[in-house]
Amino acid sequence: MKIIELDEIDSTNEYCKKYVFDDDIVVVAERQISGKGTNGRNFVSDEGGLYISLLKKYENFDFANTFSIMINACVAVCRTVESYGVKPTVKWANDVLVNGKKICGTLIENRLGADNVCTSVVGIGLNVNNELPDELKEIATSLREQKGRKLSLTMVRNRLLRNLKKQYTVEDYKAYVDWFGQEVYLDCNGELIEAVALDVDADGSLVCKIEGEIKKISSAEMRLRLKCKSI
Ligand code: BTN
Repeated sequence: MKIIELDEIDSTNEYCKKYVFDDDIVVVAERQISGKGTNGRNFVSDEGGLYISLLKKYENFDFANTFSIMINACVAVCRTVESYGVKPTVKWANDVLVNGKKICGTLIENRLGADNVCTSVVGIGLNVNNELPDELKEIATSLREQKGRKLSLTMVRNRLLRNLKKQYTVEDYKAYVDWFGQEVYLDCNGELIEAVALDVDADGSLVCKIEGEIKKISSAEMRLRLKCKSI
């Protein structure tokens, strides 16, 4: 695996999309000036965090399996966090939390062919030693905060890259869910709908009960909000 190390970049995902054409190349930046989050949000990427993107190329990768890319990234992050003795949970679809606060976000950008996925850029932002801005302190955390000490960023990166090489299943992902059976909100462009979260399907949809009816929701349609947590 080749690692391209950058001091500062707008976004490692953007760099990957523009300049990386081969599998097995990872782009890492010390900080991003316009880190990208999901749904057009920005992702604060100050020095001390781990910001990586890797390009994956596929042959005949069905659209229906795109959630497996997310599963792999989320479980790899959870395993990495766990290896430091810190207990992670996932918040559908792509966030990893510790003690109810976000420690990592994942942004997967796929390039699609006629009926399949050609490439995806898997971008992962993990709060390691970075100082969180005041406005995020209530809802975000870092490995440093959880451990009470700084960690070697290179070691965290290497553990994550090793874990990203493995294959995980939806059952592995669900093992990190702690909100099945709970009342949650589904955020549909700012409108909050009450639901009970029941399951996550292999295709990535959230199975939930809304007004007594079982529904399957895709992550493109709605975001999950946990009632007991601030996120
Ligand atoms: C989110 O939580 O909304 C997703 C955040 C994804 C952030 C990572 S950091 C590395 C890669 N480069 C980006 O610009 N974004 C992703």
